[in-house]
Amino acid sequence: MKYKYKGSIIYVLENYDEISIKAAQLLAAQVNLKPNCVLGLATGSTPEGMYKKLIRKYEQNEVDFSEVTTFNLDEYYPIDPKNTQSYAYYMKEKFFSKINIQQSQTFIPDGQAEDVDKMCENYDLMINKYGGIDFQVLGIGNNGHIGFNEPNIRFESGTHLVELDNETIEANSRFFDNKKDVPILAISMGVRNIMHSKKIILLASGEHKAEAVEKMLFGDITPNLPASILQLHNDVTIILDNAAAKLIVPRL
Ligand code: PGA
Repeated sequence: MKYKYKGSIIYVLENYDEISIKAAQLLAAQVNLKPNCVLGLATGSTPEGMYKKLIRKYEQNEVDFSEVTTFNLDEYYPIDPKNTQSYAYYMKEKFFSKINIQQSQTFIPDGQAEDVDKMCENYDLMINKYGGIDFQVLGIGNNGHIGFNEPNIRFESGTHLVELDNETIEANSRFFDNKKDVPILAISMGVRNIMHSKKIILLASGEHKAEAVEKMLFGDITPNLPASILQLHNDVTIILDNAAAKLIVPRL
């Protein structure tokens, strides 16, 4: 089902596979329309299916990434990019090494930066130098975060160092053998960077995301639920499975 609600288009699809297909179609269309576009990319479980579908599209000559530039939303801090838990490793393993993107055109916040503030400032400058983000992929945290912009974030922030919320640390712990190894700090693009993107797609799958999705769309616009700021963006496509859309469908 496709709905229009205020400025957003909302797809409510059968399952995770369907949302991955839809997200990959939209991203590939963006690259085909503007081969030298700037993509903002996300990590986590949700976009994994989308990356798999995009690799397939690339293998079938349906999309060419040779002129694309990417900026990732976030990275743990401190972390070595060779660490298998780093988002640099995730992106390389799950996407970049399997398509024809130029490695020099893929930017991820440096989890080893000594001067973090300077690195963040440079990250924002680079995004601007490339003309801003054309197409930003987002997930949403159970607590309503986007990127690692945790509840009570400043909406005007650019890329910055964040202390992860307890709920996020808990959610991330599923990727680690030992809870004490779960990072407590991260570097994240800010809400300002995200809101300046020309187009945004947000993906969510599973019942555990239903409450955050409902508040994002129908709740107050508040730093307590960072994703609620998306109500003010004029080109957001939200792609949900039935479980994540459970609380909103009756109101659309
Ligand atoms: P997930 O994370 O895709 O692993 O659920 C989403 C997010 O925290 O933004």
